[in-house]
Amino acid sequence: MSLTEAPSTVAPETVDVSTDEGRDTVFRSVVARLSRQSVDKHFDAYTDVPWDDPEMQVRADDPRFRLIDVDPLAQTDWYRSLPDAEQARVGLMRIATGMRIGWEFENVLQRGLLLQAFWLTDCEPEFRYLHHEVIEESQHTMMFNEFISRSGMKVKGLPFPRKVASANVVRMARHFPGLFFLFVLGGEDPVDHVQRLHLQADDVHPLVRTIMRIHLTEEARHLSFARQYVKREVPRIPRWRRTVMALYAPVLFGLMTRMMVFPSRSLLKSVGAPVDQVRRAERSDESKQLLVDATAKTRKLVAEAGLMTPAATVLWRRMGIAPATGPVVD
Ligand SMILES: [Fe+2]
Ligand SMILES: [Fe+2]
Repeated sequence: MSLTEAPSTVAPETVDVSTDEGRDTVFRSVVARLSRQSVDKHFDAYTDVPWDDPEMQVRADDPRFRLIDVDPLAQTDWYRSLPDAEQARVGLMRIATGMRIGWEFENVLQRGLLLQAFWLTDCEPEFRYLHHEVIEESQHTMMFNEFISRSGMKVKGLPFPRKVASANVVRMARHFPGLFFLFVLGGEDPVDHVQRLHLQADDVHPLVRTIMRIHLTEEARHLSFARQYVKREVPRIPRWRRTVMALYAPVLFGLMTRMMVFPSRSLLKSVGAPVDQVRRAERSDESKQLLVDATAKTRKLVAEAGLMTPAATVLWRRMGIAPATGPVVD
């Protein structure tokens, strides 16, 4: 079979996934489908976003940039007391900062995917798909950066120590790929959840709506690939690696979900928001529920992959990314 030739599609329910061979068959079939979809429906950052249309223009006082209700920053007295135009400016800054952190995350991801592709042997089915994903993440990165530049906002991304630590994540793609794809899900799952909430809001600026729709469409494939990868990988790695993954997952998701759904310290500083009020809002029942909801799909995957061990379950609850009582998975 050539590198680009897709194996025939199989219905996963007809395959015995309790064996390595069965899981590999499902993986190959899903990857082939995702590769085909990447050709059938993909977007270009410059031709598929009508940046110069009058309705797409960005004005910092546009009320359609205001924060969505679930945002902890929106729940503070400080934000509620701001005039409308100032609320819009804070909201725009929040979106632009999210896009900056988003493209930095995607940059780490692209480097990891390329490293993984580099070390693949011939004919492995994921070679082609890894490149589809790198191309799409590059388009997202350019799309996010274009938005930031048109917003006129000066935004900061990840703190310096996290930027330095990102090299370790990239290396993980080669030496511990299962863990690398958990990292991928740790970023993509919460962002997916928050962008869906954003699109449900009443009046969203059309440029933000267009960017988020494009992003959600392509991210659905990335999430699907990462989940299939983890499901195939976990049963074939040594027990000690499975233990590491099971215990590492809740810590990783606890940190990454907060990074993706809560406002960063640099943003709070830039807009002059009182940190104590925001941190209090992050401990509200609404915010706790947001963390639990944003990780629902990941918990399901982790359980299906056999990584929701009793010790891991305790950690998922401790990290605040699973319901405090009752079942961990819906
Ligand atoms: Fe992306
Ligand atoms: Fe992605």
